[in-house]
Amino acid sequence: MKTHVLRPLWVAIALVALILIARMFVVPDDFGVHGDSFTYNYYRLSNVQEWKDFPAKYTSEKRCRRCHDENAGLLQESKHARLRCQNCHGPGAGHPKEIETLPINATREHCLRCHHRLAYPSSQRGDLPGIDGAKHKKNKECRKCHDPHHPDLEDM
Ligand code: HEC
Ligand code: HEC
Ligand code: HEC
Ligand code: HEC
Repeated sequence: MKTHVLRPLWVAIALVALILIARMFVVPDDFGVHGDSFTYNYYRLSNVQEWKDFPAKYTSEKRCRRCHDENAGLLQESKHARLRCQNCHGPGAGHPKEIETLPINATREHCLRCHHRLAYPSSQRGDLPGIDGAKHKKNKECRKCHDPHHPDLEDM
């Protein structure tokens, strides 16, 4: 063969060899060793345990309702019925063991992340009632007038 064919061929072979050698050092020992129980063999076995050990942050809404039936009852009958407690209160798996894991966020920004009026009314957020955060009852906390667990205007 001509050298101008051979030379790039050697380079290609050297590259493949380099990748194979690097792979021996980089790929963990337990990669792809777990047989047929996995749909895809390209998987690191110890990763399963790592995810099992990963602490869950959210908990079931049923738990919240057991202890806070008053708030849950109000919410259920309100325009906010489709919201979940943890949408507003954050992840509650550690609660009530550590009450401070559920700090109450009563800032205007917290409500405005859903209620700030969008420039494009036909956007994904649909018919969610929007207000202009810079104008609507400026500088007052929303909860002064609206009950977050029952914000229905007709009951105000
Ligand atoms: C085993 C009972 C129990 C469960 C389950 C429970 N809570 Fe509580 N929660 C309490 C107690 C007790 C307090 C402290 C007294 C109080 O404020 O009523 C509290 C306080 C709170 C507070 C006020 C915290 C503060 O800073 O004043 C919020 C908000 C709250 N819970 C939300 C939730 C949510 C959301 C869930 C579900 C993820 C939940 N709770 C599940 C018992 C419970
Ligand atoms: C739209 C956001 C929102 C949702 C959804 C929501 N909360 Fe709240 N929650 C708040 C805010 C804001 C406060 C503070 C209200 C205040 O100080 O008047 C609060 C206060 C509380 C408190 C402490 C004071 C009180 O009113 O008893 C508890 C307990 C609580 N929420 C539980 C729940 C539970 C349980 C759910 C689900 C059933 C829930 N919340 C859903 C925003 C929300
Ligand atoms: C001083 C009392 C007061 C405060 C504070 C307040 N509101 Fe209102 N809000 C009202 C009243 C009254 C209405 C009824 C319509 C109107 O007058 O604008 C209303 C209407 C609304 C509506 C319905 C708009 C519509 O077109 O249907 C939303 C959403 C709303 N407020 C969210 C908020 C949020 C979010 C905050 C905090 C950033 C807030 N409000 C603060 C009194 C208040
Ligand atoms: C995660 C998104 C979300 C958050 C956060 C949220 N809301 Fe809402 N809000 C909604 C949805 C959804 C509706 C109901 C729209 C409908 O079905 O008409 C609603 C409706 C309302 C209405 C109108 C009720 C009516 O009778 O038309 C008011 C007022 C309101 N929310 C106030 C608040 C206040 C105050 C806060 C903060 C404590 C808050 N919202 C936080 C999603 C949210």
